[in-house]
Amino acid sequence: MSRLREYLAGKLEDWELRILPGSYDIVGDIAIIRIPNALRHRAEEIAKAIMEINGHVRTVLNQVSPVSGSFRLRRLEWIMGDKRTVTIHREYGCLFKVDLEKCYFSPRLSYERYRVAELVRPSETVINMFAGVGCFSILIAKRSKADKVYSIDLNPWAIKYAIENIRLNGVEHIVEAILGDAKTIIKERLMETADRVLMPLPEKAYEYLDYAVDALKPNGGTIHYYDFTHAGKDEDPICKVEEKISRKLSKFGIDFKVDFGKIVRTVGPRWFQVVLDIRVNKRIKRADL
Ligand SMILES: C[S@@+](CC[C@H](N)C(=O)[O-])C[C@H]1O[C@@H](n2cnc3c(N)ncnc32)[C@H](O)[C@@H]1O
Repeated sequence: MSRLREYLAGKLEDWELRILPGSYDIVGDIAIIRIPNALRHRAEEIAKAIMEINGHVRTVLNQVSPVSGSFRLRRLEWIMGDKRTVTIHREYGCLFKVDLEKCYFSPRLSYERYRVAELVRPSETVINMFAGVGCFSILIAKRSKADKVYSIDLNPWAIKYAIENIRLNGVEHIVEAILGDAKTIIKERLMETADRVLMPLPEKAYEYLDYAVDALKPNGGTIHYYDFTHAGKDEDPICKVEEKISRKLSKFGIDFKVDFGKIVRTVGPRWFQVVLDIRVNKRIKRADL
């Protein structure tokens, strides 16, 4: 039984406890929960319990829409505590300031950000194509000896916070926040510059994959590719994503090897977010094909 359910046992009815979400996110001092419509009348009791369980939580918000749109935003309704959506989240020694209403942020990707940061070798140039408020980029700058990290995002609010976070973490000499569409930024100024490219936007990574390849140095490099996939009982989600990208990369005559793959998280019934670390060994410029 989740801690929240345990806490509310005896206060909520059995049917209410059954539909109470088992988990919620905490970002800095703000908790975000998705309360089902049938439980809205209990929102305040639920929020009070969350604040009592987590002494540092100052605000509880209800997520009332799924994450959607290009900027990957969700609608949030205030339930209890301070009326604000801005907070500072601490992760692996970094500070991330974020407005949860105006920018994407998920504490659930914390280990994945750490995993990628640990792979970066000294002197690398890294491009983060869908960087949000700069979490992967700043963690890389703080934990590795990367030379340069380009942190691109289309959302002006995400870039505003990324610039603030770069300063907050003292990595101005390494991380550059760039506002714009990753495709355009790569075409205009970042062709053949990177040892490593991050694509943490599963909704667009496949469409943008050839631009990630274009951004790698002529001797190649690594792409961290994120995608969503459905996989039936007898199917392996990692193999499914591998087959999908293999078709595209092979079509462009790109020599590659998938070094690593894993399920980052389960996002629905038999729906998975998958990451592949793709080592691109050699590529033929598209103009040569
Ligand atoms: C899932 S979020 C990534 C968040 C971030 N990597 C993190 O760990 O917090 C995806 C981000 O991609 C941005 N985005 C969407 N389309 C884009 C594009 N064409 N070029 C650059 N950024 C884009 C969104 O604004 C959003 O901030």
